[in-house]
Order: sequence, then C-alpha cells, then structure tokens
Amino acid sequence: MPDFFKDKVAIVTGASSGIGLCTARLLSERGARVVLAARSKDKLEKLAQELPNSIAVPTDVTDKNSVLNMVQRTLDAFGRIDILINNAGILIYKPIVQSTDEDLRRVMEVNFFGAVACANAVLPAMEKQKSGTIVNISSIAGRIGFPNIGYYCASKFAFTGFSETFRQEVASKGIIVSTVNPGTTETPLNQTILDEARKRGKNILPITPERVARAILNAAEKGKAEVFVPWSTRVLHWLHFFAPRFTEWLAWHFRSAEKY
Ligand SMILES: NC(=O)c1ccc[n+]([C@@H]2O[C@H](COP(=O)([O-])OP(=O)(O)OC[C@H]3O[C@@H](n4cnc5c(N)ncnc54)[C@H](OP(=O)(O)O)[C@@H]3O)[C@@H](O)[C@H]2O)c1
Repeated sequence: MPDFFKDKVAIVTGASSGIGLCTARLLSERGARVVLAARSKDKLEKLAQELPNSIAVPTDVTDKNSVLNMVQRTLDAFGRIDILINNAGILIYKPIVQSTDEDLRRVMEVNFFGAVACANAVLPAMEKQKSGTIVNISSIAGRIGFPNIGYYCASKFAFTGFSETFRQEVASKGIIVSTVNPGTTETPLNQTILDEARKRGKNILPITPERVARAILNAAEKGKAEVFVPWSTRVLHWLHFFAPRFTEWLAWHFRSAEKY
C-alpha cells in the first residue's frame, strides 16, 4: 500500500524551526510535497533546497494578505492542499501581573488569530476537493494553566476551543481536524523555561521535536481528534480534571521560577 503522505500537498506553518521544521522534514521523507511557511525567508529557502518537491513561502500568519498569498502560492505550485500543519507559535515567559496589553495582543495575534486565519484560508480549497486534513498544534497549556506563561495558556485554550468546534463543523465536508497537544519540547520556543528550571535544579525532561513530529503525522494519517504527546500529559490532563489543586502544585514545583 502506498504511503498515506506520498504526493500529498502539505503546508507547514512555523517550518523554520523546532516542531515545524522536524514535521516538514518527516513529511518530505514520507513523499509529501511540502510548502514551508514562516517569516524567516533565508531559513526556509535553505530548507527548501534540502527537501525535494518543497517550496519556501515566506509568511507572517498575523497578516491576512500574507496568509492568502501562502494559500495561492500553494495552489499555483501544486494545484491542491491536502494537509495544513497549523503550527506557527510564540511564547512570552512572564507572570500575568508583569505582562502588558501589548504582550497579550502579540501572543493572541500569532497563536490564536493567526492560526485561525490559516485554518480558514485553506478551507475553500479543501471544500472544493471534498477532502483535507488540518492538524492544529495547540499544547498541554491549552488544557491546563501553567505559571508564568498565562497569556500563552490563554491563547492555546482559545485555539483548542476553536479546533474542537471547527472539527465538528467541517466534518460533513470531508475535512478532518485534529488537535495535537505537545508537552515540554526541546525547541527555541521554551528555552527560557528550560534554562530557568535547570538553573533551579528542577528536573524537566523535554521530549524531542522529532517525537512531536511523529505524533503529528500519526494524528493526520489516522484522523485522530485529539492527541497528547507524550502520553503522560494525557494522564496529567485527566488528573487535572479530578484534582486541579494537585496538578497546580505539580506545575509550581516543576516549572515555576518564583511565586508572586
Ligand atoms: N516547544 C514546546 O514545548 C511546545 C509545547 C507545546 C506546544 N508547542 C507549540 O508548537 C508550535 C511550534 O513551536 P516550537 O516549539 O517548534 O517553537 P519554535 O522552534 O520557536 O518555532 C516557532 C515557529 O513559529 C514561527 N512563527 C512565529 N511567529 C510567526 C508568524 N507571525 N508568522 C509565521 N510564523 C511564525 C517561527 O518562524 P519565524 O520566526 O521564522 O517566523 C518558527 O518557525 C507552537 O505553536 C507552540 O506553541 C510547543
């Protein structure tokens, strides 16, 4: 049987680094034609030279015209869109009481409004094809609030809510929507969290972005509704449902820099 991803056209946002970069590589290894989207043109062009049948499309997900251009360039190059890996994201590491309105707007613009814009932008092409897969990369921080990343958590809770509703609304059009919730992953996004924790002798064991990429492809292939990676984060999610104070204590114990 041919590989599920063979010749599929996949857009990966946030493909210049971390989880997006690893997912783009893995999709390419499995035979997909990959559209590499992020703001860093040089990094994307370098990656496009490395991955066969891929194109670099510099994109800012907070700019609607840029997102529409990403979709149009994909259709011009490949004629269809089978998969969107909706992954671009930022994190601001600050307690809410020290954060500004600007911090909140910046994180919501990328992680929520930008990601929603990408999902909506691929919809017409997928509706026309009567098929498509959208994998929304949220976070365990979209199910549990963690200290010092409050606005990030808020953006991911919003995105998870969007993803869950969107899945139900577009299912009748042949479009599958998955939510992937990674736990702490070794990427530039949360280097400050990992550095802070290690400085304080806390034993955070991040997973690799390659492992998250494998979970993303598995979610896309099997059309899974919601995936937690690693599996222990699903246990944490259940535990949080029954004993929120206990999981909040765990979060402070393992992750916090200071109490405020
Ligand atoms: N690392 C973790 O522990 C972790 C855990 C759970 C969930 N996640 C989620 O996983 C996703 C990927 O994060 P990562 O850890 O791989 O982080 P990363 O290495 O910092 O990568 C983030 C990517 O997003 C892109 N990006 C940021 N702002 C953008 C914008 N306005 N328009 C287009 N692209 C933009 C960046 O590229 P440019 O700067 O070139 O634009 C980069 O490619 C995020 O949604 C994050 O919330 C990460």
